Amino acid sequence: MRTIDWNDDSNSIVMIDQTLLPMEYKVIECKTLASLCEAIKSLRVRGAPALGAAGAYGIALAAILSSASDMEALIKDLNVAAKIIIATRPTAVNLAWGVERTISAISDAYDLNGIKDVVLAEAKNIADEDVATNKKLGKHGAKLLEDGDTVMTHCNAGKMACVDWGTALGVIRSAVEAGKDIKVIACETRPLNQGGRITTWELIQDNIDVTLISDSMSGHVMSKGMVDKVIVGADRITGDAVFNKIGTYTHSVLAREHEIPFFVAAPISTFDPNNWEDTVTIEQRDADELRFFKDVQIAPADVKVYNPAFDATPMENVTAVITEKGVFYPPFLLDELLA
Ligand code: MRU
Repeated sequence: MRTIDWNDDSNSIVMIDQTLLPMEYKVIECKTLASLCEAIKSLRVRGAPALGAAGAYGIALAAILSSASDMEALIKDLNVAAKIIIATRPTAVNLAWGVERTISAISDAYDLNGIKDVVLAEAKNIADEDVATNKKLGKHGAKLLEDGDTVMTHCNAGKMACVDWGTALGVIRSAVEAGKDIKVIACETRPLNQGGRITTWELIQDNIDVTLISDSMSGHVMSKGMVDKVIVGADRITGDAVFNKIGTYTHSVLAREHEIPFFVAAPISTFDPNNWEDTVTIEQRDADELRFFKDVQIAPADVKVYNPAFDATPMENVTAVITEKGVFYPPFLLDELLA
């Protein structure tokens, strides 16, 4: 199934609970806005494009659950829901993009039920488009990979971070589909281990050769000539920086030092022309993510913790950005790219 989907029978959002992977594969249902927000905050659904779909479906859910009896009251309810959803995770711009695009669809509706219909239809469009976008992006990016390449990736920018196929892993999947022999080095991605738990799980299912390393090994494997290219996803791309999972910046510096191409794969919906690196809010996560591993304590329970979920990689460290519109080499003007 898709990572996240809409169930027409129960009027609810269904998703694979990613916090349980790879030990357990469980599909959960969100029937209320509160349960969706909990799922986003706790990373049951995660990854920028998947969050775009989650935000869009969240507005559809809010419309269906609203008891408003006229259009004005319903629109008010949806704007309140939009604020609540967007506040769950501040860095991945796709979340706000999915919410806002769905809200914009309201202008095509003429009555109360019309609003409910158009927002659900728009949310479904967003989810469908994500799959098509990733396939296009994958084909563009696959041309950058050569037969025999070993590609390092960080976090999970695969099917589970999107509705399907993936961005960084989508490029790898498209290259493999084109007959290229590609090996992957997956960085563990502390503290929540999206690389170790989810990227490796996805690639093993697709029979793509994958080796897991801890994040601190990336410099070592690059210096030993074990990495031909790095590909990561993105949570937000401003004119000057790429925001992605914490640790991405470190890999970019190491890649530059070792003259290894550093690619970012992301849909156009991840670009943010309204911000610069210093105006983006980086999500700070709970201290216990570093003090505990699940239920096991791994640091003093009262130790001070700094736990940003994302970092910013300056555009100078990026060889190219792979999108559904093609491959772009910095320096580029965001406005021209988005036109
Ligand atoms: O905190 P997460 O797991 O939502 O972070 C996800 C990432 O950083 C991904 O690399 C990014 O969203 C790109 S996903 C195609």
